[in-house]
Amino acid sequence: MVMLRNLFKVSYQRAIVPDFYGFFELFYKKLIARGPDISRLFARTDMDRQVKMLMQSITHVTAFSATLEPTDELDFISKLHGRDKLDLPSAYYDIWLDCLLETVSEKDPKYDDHVNRAWRTVMAPGIEYMKSFCSR
Ligand code: HEM
Repeated sequence: MVMLRNLFKVSYQRAIVPDFYGFFELFYKKLIARGPDISRLFARTDMDRQVKMLMQSITHVTAFSATLEPTDELDFISKLHGRDKLDLPSAYYDIWLDCLLETVSEKDPKYDDHVNRAWRTVMAPGIEYMKSFCSR
């Protein structure tokens, strides 16, 4: 039996915990490299603050797969990205997740297909929840 949540947790410990700033810096580099439509969104963003916010918010996204109860923070982020504010196309979330997994693959020395599956599975419900606030 493969224990996905545990696999996710140990990968998180290897990939993010030793240098969370380096992890999210690399992640944002990849995300911004995906094209001008995405890089434009972050043109005026304080990346220092952004890295810290994202690090905290990952916890709310991954916890959601266990509880299916959005925390106030997850609700806040979902609405911020949704139709009434940033109004992101839902396809951006797939790009976002691809960039995250690419970053994990470079930062986790034990990265393999099982680790990829564990991240995707633990993130999926939270991302689906966030997507439900999109208009397109
Ligand atoms: C599960 C996925 C995501 C999570 C957990 C997440 C998390 C966050 C958080 C915590 C903030 C900061 C909120 C604040 O300032 O209080 C933020 C802002 C933002 N996010 Fe996301 N985000 C996600 C997906 C995306 C995607 C897919 C995009 C676009 C490709 C995106 C673009 C932005 C932008 C443009 C901001 C505002 C930056 C600014 O204040 O200048 N996010 N996000």
